[in-house]
Amino acid sequence: MVKLWAGRTDANTNKVADDFNSSIGFDSKMYEQDIKGSLAHVLMLKKQGIISADDYSKISDGLIEILEDLKSGTLNIDFSCEDIHTFVETELISRIGETGKKLHTARSRNDQVATDLKLYLKDKTADIIKMTVSLIDALVFQAENNLDAIMPGYTHLQRAQPISFAFHMCAYCMMFLRDKDRLTDAVKRMNYSPLGSCALAGTGYDTDREFTAKELGFDGISMNAEDAVSDRDYCVELLSAYSVLMMHMSRLSEEIIMWSSWEFGFVKLDDGFTTGSSIMPQKKNPDMAELVRGKTGRVYGDLFAMLTVLKGLPLAYNKDLQEDKESIFDAIETVTGCLDVFAPMVKTMKTQKDKMLSAAKKGFINATDVADYLTKKGMPFRDAYKLSGQLVTYCEGNGKVLDEVTLEEYKKMSELFEEDIYESIDLSNCVNSRNSEGGTSSEQVKKQIDFIKKSIKIC
Ligand code: ARG
Repeated sequence: MVKLWAGRTDANTNKVADDFNSSIGFDSKMYEQDIKGSLAHVLMLKKQGIISADDYSKISDGLIEILEDLKSGTLNIDFSCEDIHTFVETELISRIGETGKKLHTARSRNDQVATDLKLYLKDKTADIIKMTVSLIDALVFQAENNLDAIMPGYTHLQRAQPISFAFHMCAYCMMFLRDKDRLTDAVKRMNYSPLGSCALAGTGYDTDREFTAKELGFDGISMNAEDAVSDRDYCVELLSAYSVLMMHMSRLSEEIIMWSSWEFGFVKLDDGFTTGSSIMPQKKNPDMAELVRGKTGRVYGDLFAMLTVLKGLPLAYNKDLQEDKESIFDAIETVTGCLDVFAPMVKTMKTQKDKMLSAAKKGFINATDVADYLTKKGMPFRDAYKLSGQLVTYCEGNGKVLDEVTLEEYKKMSELFEEDIYESIDLSNCVNSRNSEGGTSSEQVKKQIDFIKKSIKIC
């Protein structure tokens, strides 16, 4: 195995130990970030007069060629190297000779790996933010097409009050907007360069860390070298933000799975996002939503793996930290895969407004509106609530819904009832009368849609 650290020992480690120690199998994903980090580093070394302009040109040309060759597939990664840093440096030395050995001046793999990982996570998180915006876009599309779709709103999974499907879609948009903000915020907090912190204590060379930070798109430099090489808070924060995002997708998955059942029938998923059964020809299974729900547990697991790796770690770098990558890479692939399938699945699903409405007509979801009606006519709310409850019991006993109770029957319960009770309990009026800020009325939902659209434009 190719190692950079032969010297103190002859580096003849046991083959099994070598394989166990190696991270190139997963950190090779960061080759581009590794080379970009090295390019910024070597430019700084030249600017500071630590290496000559000639050496700089050789090293940077060599690195650029390696990057191009890796991208085009002309060069294959040598998986016998310990890690991606070793591979790039070894390849550089084999291409340009002795000068290549100057690249690692005033740097350590400890600050290098932290820099690479931050760069990689920033890139991937930017993709995840974009995909989250596409999902919000799909949800707004559904909201705009379903402003008039009345469905039961639930608490305890019991029909509670009538709402519009648009309102329900906006609720999810708010969650995903928070996810977008959480990810943006986490990136902002991690956006300080560890490069130049070296092994743990800084360096005696006259380096310019602000320069490399700027070159690499960081907002500034980390202020303590020992912290910089030991810190993986940003992995925990991102994993936690990915977990919350997955949790939101999982909750919506659960609803989509229920809604596409015969029992609900509120939505029909596009055939492209369902599967059939090998034995039951009538089946149309919401596998994508189920998988998203299932994979949520996996991302939570990645978060807990990371937290557990860090618990009890003394400063500064410990090899345990190599374990940061597999969990966060797995989370990124999982979240990306889920968002990739989820946004178009949501966008193409068809609502069945008639099914929603007929569910809304059952279950006395306008009983609160009867109580509100009486309260507006002067009855104290607590009494009105009780009387509405008695009306529901009466209806149940007589096989009626509230709209079918005659005015005479209403009047027997209270003289306050007039002909306008029917208007007050009409489901569409019930939805639109909830016009308080953030409510389900179409006026409020339109405001919510505007807010959501504005929020996704500025990203
Ligand atoms: N492959 C290592 C990692 O991912 C790179 C850092 C190695 N540093 C060291 N002191 N062994 O953590």
